[in-house]
Amino acid sequence: MKKYDYLVVGAGLFGGVFAREATKKGKKVLVIDKRDHIAGNAYTKDENGIHVHVYGAHIFHTSNKEVWDYVNQFTEFNNYINSPVARYKDELYNLPFNMNTFYQMWGTRTPKEAKEMIEKQKENAKVDHPQNLEEQAISLIGQDIYEKLIKGYTEKQWGKKATELPAFIIKRLPVRYTFDNNYFNDRYQGIPVGGYTQMMEKILDGIEVQLNTDFFENREELSSLADKIVFTGKIDEYYNYQLGELEYRGLKFETEVLAEENHQGNAVVNYTEYEVPYTRIIEHKHFQVGEETPKDRTIVTKEYPLNISESSEPFYPMNDEKNNELYKKYEELSKNEENVIFGGRLGMYRYFDMHHIIFEALEAVKKNVI
Ligand code: FDA
Repeated sequence: MKKYDYLVVGAGLFGGVFAREATKKGKKVLVIDKRDHIAGNAYTKDENGIHVHVYGAHIFHTSNKEVWDYVNQFTEFNNYINSPVARYKDELYNLPFNMNTFYQMWGTRTPKEAKEMIEKQKENAKVDHPQNLEEQAISLIGQDIYEKLIKGYTEKQWGKKATELPAFIIKRLPVRYTFDNNYFNDRYQGIPVGGYTQMMEKILDGIEVQLNTDFFENREELSSLADKIVFTGKIDEYYNYQLGELEYRGLKFETEVLAEENHQGNAVVNYTEYEVPYTRIIEHKHFQVGEETPKDRTIVTKEYPLNISESSEPFYPMNDEKNNELYKKYEELSKNEENVIFGGRLGMYRYFDMHHIIFEALEAVKKNVI
């Protein structure tokens, strides 16, 4: 008999939720992670009262009541509402595109005026069959918003000119004719009071976790410990890249402590001009709505998109045709595995928000754990 029923590779949200629910069903589980901490990319580090989102801003949002009730067992959420601001040169705009943005852009005061302006902009653009992302965006929203709020940001994110990016990346651009800066349309939203790491500690409470343990450095021995493996690392790496390597976009984070109480007045400020190399600055303490945070300092992080060769980690899957085709081949291989479940953003090679990942992990348990 093996020592464990499940070896869970990855102490992120997928691995954590799977481990918790399998344990509840009486299974013996070992969780490993190659990093020196739990919580995966949602990890927050407490820096004397400021919870730093180490792998970029993480805002929990969902309309799925089952998922919301699930996470609320482990933490209380504050009432943070994501309302990012965009900075283009010296101009500031509210996001997502709404009546505030239109007033700031054109001085339009009513929905009728704003609609007329957008229609005029679209007509002037005269794009009937958009051939690339630039044409697509202009056909949907017109020149001004495209130039100031979309072009540079998108080019930085993808590392390519907007004219070289396919049109399908932008299917629609949500526009609101109300003065509403809430970025998400979801029913529930917030940040765990105490941070995500504390929430993950509760999820993993009583479960054996081994950090600084890379599955691939000790593959045979680790695999021999359990009847089944839940693998949330890279699926192509699991198969030794035998069919080729899946591509990712990378990121770099530059974090500074500043001796001031409030640096930018908002948790998220996007820098939308191409010439500024980072895409956004996060000021972490603003996520902690209603909590006491230090008055003598603040912590900010600049986020730079990178080619994967320059990045320490894979962040965003490049879900274009070529990579999706390759993933499908790996997925086919994975169907032959009787004792391995692939999960999470790296195992399923897809961008997932946290609520999607929790849903997927709960489904995986329902399907696989008797
Ligand atoms: P995750 O990457 O968190 O965990 C996988 C774990 O497996 C990692 O800890 C890794 O170290 C470990 N691992 C990998 N290979 C291993 C190996 N060989 N051996 C041992 N361990 C291994 N979502 C959202 O809802 N709201 C938001 O605001 C954001 N914001 C955001 C910003 C940025 C910059 C990114 C990149 C992503 C987001 N997300 C998000 C998405 C969110 O990060 C994501 O949904 C979850 O972290 C995914 O959880 P997983 O468990 O799938 O992966």
